[in-house]
Amino acid sequence: MTSLLEQAFDGEIFRQQGHQLIDRLADYLQQVLQRADMPIMPWREPAELRHEWQQLLADPLPASFTELTEKLLQQSIHLHHPRCCGHQVAPPAPITALAELFSALLNNSMAVYEVGPAGTAIEKAVLAWLAQRLGMPAASDGVLTSGGSLGNLSGLLAARQERGGGDPWQEGARAGLPLAVMVSEESHYSVVRALKIMGLGNQGLVKLPVDERLQVRPELLEPMLLAAQANGQHVIAIVANACSTSTGTYDPLPEIGAFARKNNLWFHVDAAHGGAACFSPKYRHLVAGLEKSDSLVIDFHKMMLCPALATAVVFRDGTVLNRIFSQKAGYLLPEQQQIPWQDIARNTIECTKKMLGLKIMMLLKTVGEGVFSEYITRTYDLARDFASLINGESDFKLAVEPQANIVCFRHQPDRVPDGQWGEYNARLRRQLVAHGRFYIVQTTVVGEIYLRLTLMNPFTNLNDLQELLAEIRRFGQLV
Ligand SMILES: Cc1ncc(COP(=O)(O)O)c(C=O)c1O
Repeated sequence: MTSLLEQAFDGEIFRQQGHQLIDRLADYLQQVLQRADMPIMPWREPAELRHEWQQLLADPLPASFTELTEKLLQQSIHLHHPRCCGHQVAPPAPITALAELFSALLNNSMAVYEVGPAGTAIEKAVLAWLAQRLGMPAASDGVLTSGGSLGNLSGLLAARQERGGGDPWQEGARAGLPLAVMVSEESHYSVVRALKIMGLGNQGLVKLPVDERLQVRPELLEPMLLAAQANGQHVIAIVANACSTSTGTYDPLPEIGAFARKNNLWFHVDAAHGGAACFSPKYRHLVAGLEKSDSLVIDFHKMMLCPALATAVVFRDGTVLNRIFSQKAGYLLPEQQQIPWQDIARNTIECTKKMLGLKIMMLLKTVGEGVFSEYITRTYDLARDFASLINGESDFKLAVEPQANIVCFRHQPDRVPDGQWGEYNARLRRQLVAHGRFYIVQTTVVGEIYLRLTLMNPFTNLNDLQELLAEIRRFGQLV
């Protein structure tokens, strides 16, 4: 009888389950991409699902690999389905999923070079490639980290270190005036959360109002800065969106960058979603000025077809990496005269980390960089076409003309009184999602509820979206 350990590491079982899984996923992918008739978000009451898995775990009998995989497929949201237009989560290109599997088995943990030699070299190569494509200077450098939230925190920690006065990393940030950061009121919540983690509190947040297109208003920057300074705050940075989460709005980066330079503020751009526009000749203009940032964040798991997670944080001056997290740890990070670039844990919040660059390298080298240009152009084009469609329908209204692949709109039929449109659309969305033919989400724009579509799937087309409008009208009659 083989021991459980031998069974757990049996290469033949792995081969057989691996083949079975890849075959199943390949079939799944084909069916889903071809708009299989299935609930896209198979809605179940959360408590019911939780109970089901608890029961399964408590059951002393083993479950078969097939049983587990089928259950998981049935109960998951299907991002590759062209009628899935919800949040900003990429339907991963299959090669990137293979890279994840590969990386999971090797489990090279990346903290220092010796526990991830190829992974470390790949990370540096991917970062240098990205920085170059973004037009960042040769002196720039960066890290890959696990998500835009950690990415924004990393950028803002650099801001504090470089503009906070003294050496906040070593001495604490308590001496001197309270620190503050100027942030668009349309920023992702992770930016404010980062400031709170850093101890800046509500007082450290200077919220920047936006105009009717939801862009930061450059003419207000100077008075807001002066007001914060008069209030006794030491403003260290300004954060811009490229683009915002809710509506996909790009801030005027050149103006904000110029203001930051003039006032010696750190310029951080949250380009988690929209930074990849740099790959599309048609939409590159949206990120003009991004190359002037001091730090920026781009998520590969949003508009770069990778599975969660992989985020690039790029710093204009790469040497800042040595100052943000400067620490010694005899067992891992001994003191050295020349700080070794290859021991990445010196430069990130994380210690153990996945081989985040591998999926990007594999996608780039087996499919080609052009895939990003095609992806951005196609999904941003579709958003514009959908917006035109909506503008042509008297019972629908756009919240704002889309700049990216995010479209916010709502149904406003005459029979629903003005003032109840938000609630009506929220009810309608719940019905639509429960019915399962489409998955869409909602957001609040200037205090009003709107339906929100993120066109992440490159195979969604205008026919799908025409059907969506028909479905909305149909459900509208029922709610
Ligand atoms: C603009 C923006 N920044 C940051 C984030 C946070 O990224 P993550 O979910 O990878 O932590 C998001 C996520 O939606 C986002 O849209």
